[in-house]
Amino acid sequence: MNPSDLPGAPFLAYRDQQLFIEQLRLQDLAQQHGTPLFVYSKAGMLHALSAYQRAFAGRKAKVHYAMKANSSLGVLQVFAKAACGFDIVSAGELARVLAAGGQAKDVIFSGVGKTRAEMQLALQAGIACFNVESEAELDVLNEVALSLGKVAPVSIRVNPNVDPKTHPYISTGLKGNKFGIAHERTLQAYRHAASLPGLKVTGIDCHIGSQITTSEPYLDALDKVLDLVEQIESAGIPIHHLDFGGGLGINYNGDTPPAADALWATLLARLDARGFGDRQLMIEPGRSLVGNAGVCLSQVQFLKPGEQKNFCIIDAAMNDLPRPAMYEAYHQIVPLTLSDAATQVYDVVGPVCESGDWIGRDRALNVQASDTLAVLSAGAYCMSMASNYNTRGRPAEVLVDGNKAHVIRTRETVADQMRGECLV
Ligand code: LLP
Repeated sequence: MNPSDLPGAPFLAYRDQQLFIEQLRLQDLAQQHGTPLFVYSKAGMLHALSAYQRAFAGRKAKVHYAMKANSSLGVLQVFAKAACGFDIVSAGELARVLAAGGQAKDVIFSGVGKTRAEMQLALQAGIACFNVESEAELDVLNEVALSLGKVAPVSIRVNPNVDPKTHPYISTGLKGNKFGIAHERTLQAYRHAASLPGLKVTGIDCHIGSQITTSEPYLDALDKVLDLVEQIESAGIPIHHLDFGGGLGINYNGDTPPAADALWATLLARLDARGFGDRQLMIEPGRSLVGNAGVCLSQVQFLKPGEQKNFCIIDAAMNDLPRPAMYEAYHQIVPLTLSDAATQVYDVVGPVCESGDWIGRDRALNVQASDTLAVLSAGAYCMSMASNYNTRGRPAEVLVDGNKAHVIRTRETVADQMRGECLV
C-alpha cells in the first residue's frame, strides 16, 4: 500500500507500522474507549473544507454542510466554528444545528416531505431558505407562512434529468427520481411561487446525486440550471442565489474524484463564461467534508474458517456501518499494526443475525482474534445511519484534534435504548 493512497491520508498514516490519526495511535484509542468506536480527525474535516474555501476565494459563496452525512453535535460544532451554514432535512436537524452553536439564518431546508410543523418551526427560527421540491409543497408552505404572518424565502429544486453515474439509490437528478421539479415544469412552478403572497423567491437549487466521481454531470446540470435561470428571469422573476447541492465523491477504494477546488475551478469558469460569476453561490457538500476524516475501529471476535469462505467476525455490524449492506459499498479494512506475515482471505462480517451483515468481502488480512481493525472512510453516512438493530448500542465517537481526543458521544447503553418504552 502506498501510504499517500490510504483514504484519509495525511491525517491517517502508519508510523513505525502503527496506524495514527493525527498525533494519536488508534490502538490506544481503542483500548481507552472500547470498540466499535468512530474516530474523526478535526484537521481532516477542516482540510476538506479548505479546498472549497480556496475555490470560492473572492466570490460570493457559502458552504452549507449537508449534515445528514454526520450530524453528531461535535462534528457540527467544527463546521459552525468554521463559518459554514447547514443543509438540513428535518426539524430534528435544525435543533441539532442550534444545539451545536450554529445559527438559523445560515440554514437551508431540503427534502421532499417537510411537514407543516417542520415548516412552522423553521419559519419561526428564521432560516435562510426552503429548497422546495414540489408544486404542492409551494402551496402548503405559502399557507403556513401566511398563518404565521411571515414570508418564506424559497428556492425551487430542479430535477435536471442528468445521470450522475453513481449507485441508483444515491442518484437523485434523474426523471424517475422523487426529487425536485422536472425542468420542463420549472418556469411554471416559479410563476406560481412568485404569485403566492406567503413566499419570496430567492434562488434556484439542484442536487443530482452522491459519490459523483467526474466533473461532467456537474457541468451538464449547471448548464441546464443556467438555461432555466435565463428563462425565469426573462419572465420577470429575479433569482438571487444559485445552489448547486453536494454530491462530490471521495476515495473509498482507489476512486479518483476531482478535488473540490479543481471541480469548482471548472464550474466557476463555466459560470463566468455564461455571465453568472458574480451571483451568490451556495453548495451543500456532505460526504466530501467528513467521509475520509473518519474511521471505525472494531475488534476481531472470532476467526471462523470454512470450506467455501473464511469469516472474520468483528464487533461492528450492519447497524453501525450500514453502507455495505445497503449499497454494497466498499470500505477499506486495515490492521492497526502492519506486519509482513502471510495473509488469508476473509469475509469480514458482524454479529447481526442476517447474511446481509457483512462489512467487507474477500479481504486479504493477517489477523488474529482480539486484534483491532480500522474500517476506513467511515466519517460520512455511517454513524448518522446507525441503528439499534439486535438491541445493539450505537458506538462511541471521538474527535481527535492534534494530540487530544475529545469524546463527542458516549457509547449508548441498553438503558438508553429502552428509555421511553413501557410494559402494558
Ligand atoms: N443536498 C441534498 C439535497 C442531498 O439530498 C444530499 C445527500 C446532499 C446535499 C449531500 O450529498 P453528498 O455531498 O453527501 O453526496 N447514504 C448514502 C448517501 C445519501 C445521500 C443523500 N443526499 C450513502 O451512504 O452513500
